[in-house]
Amino acid sequence: MRIGKQASIVRGGGRVWIDYPRARDAFEAYLCSLELRETEVVLMPNYIGYSPREGSGVFDPIVNSGVTCKFYELDKSLTICLDSIRHCIENFDVKLIVVIHYFGYIDPAYERVVELAKRNDIKILEDQAHSLFTDIHGGVSGRLSDASIYSLHKMLPVSSGGALSLQKAEDGYAPSLVSKLCIEYDIASLVKTRIRNHGYLTRRLAGHGSVLEVLRPVLEPGIVPQTFPILIISYDRNALYQKMNDSGFGVVSLYHTMISEIQANAAFQTNYVAERILNLPLHQDADEESLDLMCETLLNLLYAN
Ligand SMILES: Cc1ncc(COP(=O)(O)O)c(C=O)c1O
Repeated sequence: MRIGKQASIVRGGGRVWIDYPRARDAFEAYLCSLELRETEVVLMPNYIGYSPREGSGVFDPIVNSGVTCKFYELDKSLTICLDSIRHCIENFDVKLIVVIHYFGYIDPAYERVVELAKRNDIKILEDQAHSLFTDIHGGVSGRLSDASIYSLHKMLPVSSGGALSLQKAEDGYAPSLVSKLCIEYDIASLVKTRIRNHGYLTRRLAGHGSVLEVLRPVLEPGIVPQTFPILIISYDRNALYQKMNDSGFGVVSLYHTMISEIQANAAFQTNYVAERILNLPLHQDADEESLDLMCETLLNLLYAN
């Protein structure tokens, strides 16, 4: 085939984007569109949070749509246990596997999960509430699955907004809020800052393994982090969360409390993570000086214990 002077392929990825108020609304709409029977199962990862104020952005759509859900397991570093997915596929009539790109990072088993799903005629939905930039800028998520959901207010300075993207929807393209925001904001420089700040935090927090564990020290090409997750080893995480916020550092815990269905299973290693996780901010408002002060405050608290 020859290559012309002007490119002619309009939408290489062939995805269509649909706006929703929040990611959870997009997820619920997608679940309802599948029209699953009671015996048909949606597989979810066993790391899902809940808060009395916000409910569960991931699990409320499952409850509201009335679909049958089973959990596959993640380990203590929040990576997928493929055997657990295989076991579920062998034992249940799985129709959909949900993969969550926690904090913007991609699981090492992501492509193998997709292969496994395709081989068994199972759909994949990527929860990209944290990985909008890993998808649209990094290009390493959102392309192998049937659908993705996004939470715009988690990644951009907007108060609300969600989206659903669907593969192979040749018709019906309409301008979405995502496409508008991608032009309005300088995504490339937001991404550059996040990646630079990840590198800074990795270097600054290295060598403190007795008090904390850095969960994602390596950024593979294309990954754009939402936050910098660490596990707190030697201090009460809730007290630390409070002290850091009181000192002016907007750390969060994604997630501090698991939904009851996960809490009830003592064998789930993700309960260990939920008790210890702290996510440090690395967005565009953070410069090297403020990151340094945040790390100093954190380490002073941890070592004073
Ligand atoms: C991984 C993940 N997916 C989905 C959601 C829901 O996002 P939204 O608040 O836009 O509904 C959240 C947050 O609640 C989340 O952390």
